[in-house]
Amino acid sequence: MNLEKFERYPLTFGPTPIEKLPQLSAALGDEVEIWAKRDDCNSGLAMGGNKLRKLEYIVPDAIAAGADTLVSIGGVQSNHTRLVAATAAKIGMKCRLVQEKWVPHYDAVYDRVGNILMTRLMGADSRLVDDGFDIGIRQSWEDAMQSVRDEGGKPYGIPAGASVHKFGGLGYVGFAEEVRMQEAGLGFKFDYIIVCVVTGSTQAGMIVGFAADNRAHRVIGIDASGTLEQTRTQVRQIVDNTAELVELGREVRDDEIVINPDYAYPAYGVPSQETNEAIRLAARTEAMITDPVYEGKSMQGLIDLTRKGFFPKGSKILYAHLGGAPALNGYSYYYKDG
Ligand SMILES: Cc1ncc(COP(=O)(O)O)c(C=O)c1O
Repeated sequence: MNLEKFERYPLTFGPTPIEKLPQLSAALGDEVEIWAKRDDCNSGLAMGGNKLRKLEYIVPDAIAAGADTLVSIGGVQSNHTRLVAATAAKIGMKCRLVQEKWVPHYDAVYDRVGNILMTRLMGADSRLVDDGFDIGIRQSWEDAMQSVRDEGGKPYGIPAGASVHKFGGLGYVGFAEEVRMQEAGLGFKFDYIIVCVVTGSTQAGMIVGFAADNRAHRVIGIDASGTLEQTRTQVRQIVDNTAELVELGREVRDDEIVINPDYAYPAYGVPSQETNEAIRLAARTEAMITDPVYEGKSMQGLIDLTRKGFFPKGSKILYAHLGGAPALNGYSYYYKDG
């Protein structure tokens, strides 16, 4: 595998810490050991998160293209658009964003706090539109690209979640290499990795990275999109493209792509009662803050699968914490009593 041949523009602090979660493990009966890799603490840029690992491999291409404006798309409380805005500010480019109505959630300050607040603070031109949830390439995104051109600018397009970009999967191949290095220091290998999946390139990158030592099938994607087939198809495409880029040297089989759809209900961006209970348990046992859109759902999956005995006794499980806490501010009513 060859990741080093790709240029990387540093936006993160470096390898993220792996920490043990003993209180959470005890609350779940101490049958397994739960650890977390804290990609939520990966950078000083606008509170960080998984998108920065992906953007590190995309920025050199934007600079080489001679662009002056990064253009991207997401929901109103998108973590991705926050981090595209942060990246643009940091590298001295402008930023134009389309923020769609992806979530049927109504809170008086939903479009003014958390991610979108920081996005505006960093100077991005954020435009709210009425279109609904879709992880694919959108007309509104094409329109935003054209609007930059019409004004004489040079846009560089980054799709939703930085996923279907040709280099979107590389960052999380790097995650797998980093875990292998950290495992060598810890003296053991993790049996499972739990990761939230929506637009797909986080899990796809991990799958390719861990395919190198034949444990791609131990990366358990917890779907939070509620559109499983579309997400699975997108993960498959990103796996194939990324495997070719890094010269994995073999096909990734379908059975190595594991996505569990059981925790995405009732809809993308809407937490179930069980999601909220998972968010509270992680917060009360480990002071680890997860959000109602993404990480709360993968935490719910981790908790439920552990309680159900899915993981053999003694398993060491690595929960990939991908960020997302700023969105909590848009959901304050759910948590008014804790
Ligand atoms: C905090 C957080 N977790 C998980 C995800 C899912 O990652 P991906 O879109 O690469 O599947 C995202 C973005 O969509 C996110 O912002």
